[in-house]
Amino acid sequence: MKPPAAEKPKLVKTAELPLPKPVRPGSIPQLLRGMKDILPVDAFYWKNVREKFEELAEFFGYMPIETPIMEPRDLFVRGVGKQTDIVEKEMYTFVDQGGESIALRPEMTASIARAYIGHGMVNMPQPLKFFYFGPAFRHDRPQAGRYRQFHQAGFEAVGDAHPIVDAELISMAWAFFKDLNLPVTIQLNSIGCTVCRGAYKSKLVDYYKTKKGALCAACRERLTRSPLRLLDCKEPGCEAIKEGAPQMFDHLDEACHNHFFKVVEYLDDLNLPYALNPHIVRGLDYYNRTVFEIWPEAAPSAVQQASAEGSAPVETEENKPSTPAQSSLGGGGRYDGLVEALGGRPTPAAGFAIGLERVILLLKAKNPAPADGKATQVFLAQLGEAARRKALVLLHALRSELKVASALYKDGLKPQLEIANRLGARYTVIIGQKEVLDDTAIVRDMEAGMQEVVPFGKVAVDLKRRFGIVETSPSPSVGGERKESDTT
Ligand code: HAM
Repeated sequence: MKPPAAEKPKLVKTAELPLPKPVRPGSIPQLLRGMKDILPVDAFYWKNVREKFEELAEFFGYMPIETPIMEPRDLFVRGVGKQTDIVEKEMYTFVDQGGESIALRPEMTASIARAYIGHGMVNMPQPLKFFYFGPAFRHDRPQAGRYRQFHQAGFEAVGDAHPIVDAELISMAWAFFKDLNLPVTIQLNSIGCTVCRGAYKSKLVDYYKTKKGALCAACRERLTRSPLRLLDCKEPGCEAIKEGAPQMFDHLDEACHNHFFKVVEYLDDLNLPYALNPHIVRGLDYYNRTVFEIWPEAAPSAVQQASAEGSAPVETEENKPSTPAQSSLGGGGRYDGLVEALGGRPTPAAGFAIGLERVILLLKAKNPAPADGKATQVFLAQLGEAARRKALVLLHALRSELKVASALYKDGLKPQLEIANRLGARYTVIIGQKEVLDDTAIVRDMEAGMQEVVPFGKVAVDLKRRFGIVETSPSPSVGGERKESDTT
């Protein structure tokens, strides 16, 4: 007899989906709770932080990789762990039009492991080092620095079990914050391997059972479902209990102990500010041996964070003060079993990811008005349609070497000069009707208040010379015949 066909997931047309809340006709669509617009005013912070990551990745030989935002739900169930908060409570999932169960990625490590297996990277020289930057999604309770869409930058080294890989990764995370002048501490632990952790878990459960009456409801559940997470509880009553709990350090088997000892030795050589913290267990199931988190040296207060966000510093549920652990800036560790758990060959690996929003909140609290990148060097002002056309051509001729600004859509000279002043342009090029007829332009030195008339075809060379940019090949004529300089 044929086995019964697997039940196909029921398809729901988007148009048939119920609207969870009635929408008032004509109302303005609102940002979803826990989501955030990244506005131009913050662009400098994002660019700066991204560049720092890219420099770090290049220096340590991590290659850029991008994986999709949507993945099969099963990837995270198997990768991150069925019983983790992330998979059980926080993952955005849906069934698509083809009946596939999809998740918006809550993190990227499982995706990297999937890509590593799927593209046969096991056959390439190991380890493979990946760097990524992008959004992730978790339906968590929003708080200051905790969003439902947030961005991570991450580094994964797949294919090498040596403890120097762990230490190098930790040193990279530390170097990132050092370069940004943000004081952090590295919270370090080892959670051993499946074998020694198994024995440790039994001891932990025995200890906690004696305190069961004093545990919070979540911890009573953790006792049977995920005992290691007992060590992660932030409830005041449970905090006190965990101080007396047995520690994993004392239960590592010889190989795990030696591995951890080596990592610590390497970090000591670098003088890194790490703290051994037996309560770092991480919220994802794939870790083994080394685990770590990056905490701000002092957790930013809600008020500091809210004012960095540009909002009124009123304390609400959503911006209530966070403990260092809650505002962990980054975290990672070794995950030697993940590739195998997803169907690949046994492959050691380690990595970490940093939460961008949290880094930027700290940077903003520290330096609320950063100087924008490169200052405007030249402003192009024009008067009349023919001048506008010439200014557009000149703009492109200068683009590759100078920081040039313009307001070609403006008609009057006055508003354009005001913009030039506001931007602090060193020179303003003015093309008016007379200049169009003469095929010239006025180059005004904004500091000295002097100006010269320059043949239009020589303006680009003239400006570059003023900024000390030496022409290596004859500059192409810009928008007209070349004439000898007749500057006055
Ligand atoms: P994770 O600790 O879950 O680790 O996340 C890393 C960082 O992402 C956190 O330390 C935090 O800065 C940021 N983050 C997490 N959730 C949120 C949120 N809701 N809002 C804002 N920021 C958040 C991982 O995701 C692992 N994949 C890291 C890793 C890479 N392990 C090995 N390789």
